[in-house]
Amino acid sequence: MYPIDVKITKIVQESPSNKSFFFDRSFDEALPGQFVMVWIRGTDEIPMTLSYRNAITVQKVGDATAKLFEMKEGDHLGIRGPFGKGFTLPGKDENILIVAGGVGTAAIAMLAEHAMSQDTCVTTIMGARNADELLFLDRFTPCKGLHMTTDDGSAHRCGFVTDVLCEIDASEYDRVYTCGPEMMMKHVFDILEKQGALAKTEFSLHRYFKCGIGVCGACCMDNDGLRVCRDGPVFNGMQLVGSEFGKYMRGASGNKKML
Ligand SMILES: Cc1cc2nc3c(=O)[nH]c(=O)nc-3n(C[C@H](O)[C@H](O)[C@H](O)COP(=O)(O)OP(=O)(O)OC[C@H]3O[C@@H](n4cnc5c(N)ncnc54)[C@H](O)[C@@H]3O)c2cc1C
Ligand code: FES
Repeated sequence: MYPIDVKITKIVQESPSNKSFFFDRSFDEALPGQFVMVWIRGTDEIPMTLSYRNAITVQKVGDATAKLFEMKEGDHLGIRGPFGKGFTLPGKDENILIVAGGVGTAAIAMLAEHAMSQDTCVTTIMGARNADELLFLDRFTPCKGLHMTTDDGSAHRCGFVTDVLCEIDASEYDRVYTCGPEMMMKHVFDILEKQGALAKTEFSLHRYFKCGIGVCGACCMDNDGLRVCRDGPVFNGMQLVGSEFGKYMRGASGNKKML
């Protein structure tokens, strides 16, 4: 699939370290949790989850994201996708729990909105480094329950999302969804494994992607070779038992990086 050209129509500074880039093309077929490969011409092509049907929300971490941060409205990007398996959509009348950390909140916002639009009962635990980095509060405010944590205690509860999760009984929920830094998700995994709730939990994973379509093998996970780009990026908790999840990931050259 060749990239399609999109024009950046609007840039929103969501927090000190996150910006949303809106395009002149809406990916209406995209499911919450699917990703696109974003070609920043002359620099790199990187995976990004759609935070809206026509936008990505980006944290500046290296060369490609720094180049994106320099872009202006009217500039152009190449987009391939949407690709991968998104979140399983909850049914009406289900009771769901969302656990989101940092820029991972962007990847799960469309799921929360979809669920609330069809009267699913949504409880969210959202965390960030500090008050200014809490993302998309307005998109989660209609949740039945919204628990917020900040690492530095600058707003809401001081601590981590997992501190709140420890106090929640997972048996009250039909489904649990999580997206955020891998160590955060590993703690979520451990808590829910103890509660016997892994089978109803979905995790949105990050790995190094090259092709994004299951061909190159860059994103394969030990032990059973699941391709994060094609078999994921969203996985059921049971698929991750005994895998490299929470231990290490591989970089551009395939070298292991311990978490
Ligand atoms: C499915 C998926 C969805 C993602 N969604 C978002 C999102 O919505 N918002 C967001 O800010 N970030 C998202 N990321 C992470 C984002 O792709 C990387 O942060 C980005 O590629 C960094 O590129 P860089 O050149 O700026 O950084 P670099 O300096 O090149 O690298 C910094 C780190 O970013 C990661 N990285 C770099 N290149 C790639 C690549 N091609 N594939 C995967 N990881 C890479 C590596 O862990 C690397 O150590 C997502 C990643 C995946 C796999
Ligand atoms: S990035 Fe090539 S197989 Fe997943």
